[in-house]
Amino acid sequence: MTSTPFAATLTTNPAARTAEQRDAILADPGFGNHFTDHMFLAEWTPDTGWADGRVVPYGPLQIDPATAVLHYAQEIFEGLKAYVHADGSVWLFRPEANAARMQRSAQRLALPELPTDWFLGSIQALVEADRAWVPAGGEKSLYLRPFMFASEVFLGVRPSQHVTYSVIASPAGAYFAGGVQAVSIWLSTEYSRAGAGGTGAAKCGGNYAASLLPQREAAEHGCAQVAFLDSTEQKWIEELGGMNLYFVQSDGSIVTPSLSGSILEGITRDSIMQIGRDLGHEVVERRVSIDEWRQGAADGTITEVFACGTAAVVTPVASLKWEGGEAVSGDGQPGKVTTDIRSALVDVQYGRAEDRHGWLTRVS
Ligand code: PLP
Ligand code: COI
Repeated sequence: MTSTPFAATLTTNPAARTAEQRDAILADPGFGNHFTDHMFLAEWTPDTGWADGRVVPYGPLQIDPATAVLHYAQEIFEGLKAYVHADGSVWLFRPEANAARMQRSAQRLALPELPTDWFLGSIQALVEADRAWVPAGGEKSLYLRPFMFASEVFLGVRPSQHVTYSVIASPAGAYFAGGVQAVSIWLSTEYSRAGAGGTGAAKCGGNYAASLLPQREAAEHGCAQVAFLDSTEQKWIEELGGMNLYFVQSDGSIVTPSLSGSILEGITRDSIMQIGRDLGHEVVERRVSIDEWRQGAADGTITEVFACGTAAVVTPVASLKWEGGEAVSGDGQPGKVTTDIRSALVDVQYGRAEDRHGWLTRVS
């Protein structure tokens, strides 16, 4: 059955936080610690299609212990942010790209695709209900987390016949505790994030579960993120646990690993390809080997490295570390190209620069 056009009811939270409680949270939200007063929910079955869209008070979901997602991890998610502009209006950055990626993830995980009008409508409805939670000032934003999971109560291994979609929202400051500073990255030589034919290009929870052990190894070595190589040759740089990578070359070009089928197609990565060109850089998508990174950092061919993603925005990479070695990018400080690209991106997101590519959608 095809889904009906997007529609949602609203049940206002009678126990919503007071303005004082909310302001205390928005003053220093961190990342992923606090959640707004409402959430969005909808259900899918083969008979109804997507239905029962509702904004309801934020709170626990009752889950039967035999719910399929708890056993077989049939789950996908998205991440995007709402930004307040100087005039108080609220905007999303390329939300239709997140809608399209969620449809691709759904296909890979044998989940039902969520129509774009449902994706955009659900976010709009939640942001409207929780408008007061979109933080202004600094580089704060409201991080939106749409997700979808197998909610059928059944232990057989087959695609779920009941699926739940939800959006929750979390006021956000910097993703890394130190704010906008260069971070060190740990090279995982033992583990891969994804393999050929696997789920690396989908945004599914299982990929992140697989990255936690190497991520812990990274933290033990004082690194903020882990870098993964391809699983076949252990040679080609793919991405970080939750971010894509860019290399700034001494000739001024910027290079990002080509999509191998096991890399997540980041919307920030894609936007930076355009911004890089707008700023006059040659932008190249190609395979980058780990030897090129090590060598380039040593001989100065690679002058800067940065990570990018919705949560991390653009984060300078000071060095790559591995057992017994380290490759420092440039002088280890945030470089000019990284800083310029970062500014160009956030200036569009916060409405301080012209939206030349039609990337912004107003939601309030
Ligand atoms: N790679 C991974 C594994 C991610 O989790 C993310 C974050 O969403 C990204 C890359 C960057 O994607 P985007 O720029 O769309 O946030
Ligand atoms: C994002 O940048 O939106 C992510 O999903 C990365 C991480 C928080 C999982």
